[in-house]
Amino acid sequence: MEQITITRPDDWHLHVRTGAMLKTVIPHTARQFARAIIMPNLNPPITTVKLAENYYQEIIQAVPENLKFQPLMTLYLTDTIHVSEIKVAAASPYVFACKLYPAGATTNSDSGVTQLDNIFPIFEAMQKHDIPLLIHGEITTPECDIFDRERVFVDKILPKIIADFPELRIVLEHVTTEEAVQFVHAASKKIAATITPQHLMFNRNAILAGGIRPHHYCLPIIKREQHRLALIAAATSGHPKFFLGTDSAPHLQFKKENSCGCAGCYSAHAAIELYAEIFASSNNLSNLETFASFNGPDFYKLPRNTEKITLRRNNWIIPGYYSVNNDHLIPLKAGEAISWQLSE
Ligand code: NCD
Ligand code: ZN
Repeated sequence: MEQITITRPDDWHLHVRTGAMLKTVIPHTARQFARAIIMPNLNPPITTVKLAENYYQEIIQAVPENLKFQPLMTLYLTDTIHVSEIKVAAASPYVFACKLYPAGATTNSDSGVTQLDNIFPIFEAMQKHDIPLLIHGEITTPECDIFDRERVFVDKILPKIIADFPELRIVLEHVTTEEAVQFVHAASKKIAATITPQHLMFNRNAILAGGIRPHHYCLPIIKREQHRLALIAAATSGHPKFFLGTDSAPHLQFKKENSCGCAGCYSAHAAIELYAEIFASSNNLSNLETFASFNGPDFYKLPRNTEKITLRRNNWIIPGYYSVNNDHLIPLKAGEAISWQLSE
């Protein structure tokens, strides 16, 4: 196939930050996606509907005039968030989900939840108002090997949440393991998962073999080949439980190329093109639309987009960097060739 036209996709997991970074990254996302679920892990985090509405306005200001883009805002759950905030969120036209970060799991998760029981009343309210719960599914016990953190969360923690709140819609974000894929498959229809391009493209050799590559470091960390293959099978299957969520997570170059580098891969510059390349190389391009444009809105109970986009087979070179004021943002596959291109 030399070209494919699909319904305009959405990104169901995206970090856009604020200020100069936001201004650099929003045009990249808005060029491809109609909507995106915006992660609330700012510093300080987006913990109230009021903050989410302000953040929404800042994002809208950064959307280029010729593009339409709808940010779907989320609230960051903390130990102290009040049930009344969930009621306000349910009534807000801006807020579409709440995000659970186990405290310390990832970038800006220090205010995350320390004890799940602390927020059971919140889960209760979310279940009642049918607000989806988005989970960063990793345990944070320091003794737990970083490559096992998702598997243990899926084995020990997630089943408890589901058992106590069987009607709560849950998205296990950025799944990275065969075990997580199997769990989501076997779980009820209320449970779904997003999958990033980097976890579909790479195994852990891409971080550690032949030199340490900080731009491939994200959380949950990229796993072995066996897991990548399970993720490819899930994403390209067309199964309604799996959908596109880039987890595009921009950090300045010096924060990535650092003796203690930040977690996060930046992929918004070419997200749908990267997914197209992945689907094409597994001979499943015909399922790209289901994964990128149908399964997400269906799960979120939102209308599917009506506009179309066209992707063509064409080699082009991804820029080595994008400017953010006087700093640089290094994109995934910087300076490398990619074989699919969005027609503007
Ligand atoms: C994300 C970030 O930088 O905000 N980093 C990442 O590695 N994915 C946080 C997150 O989603 O875990
Ligand atoms: Zn993320």
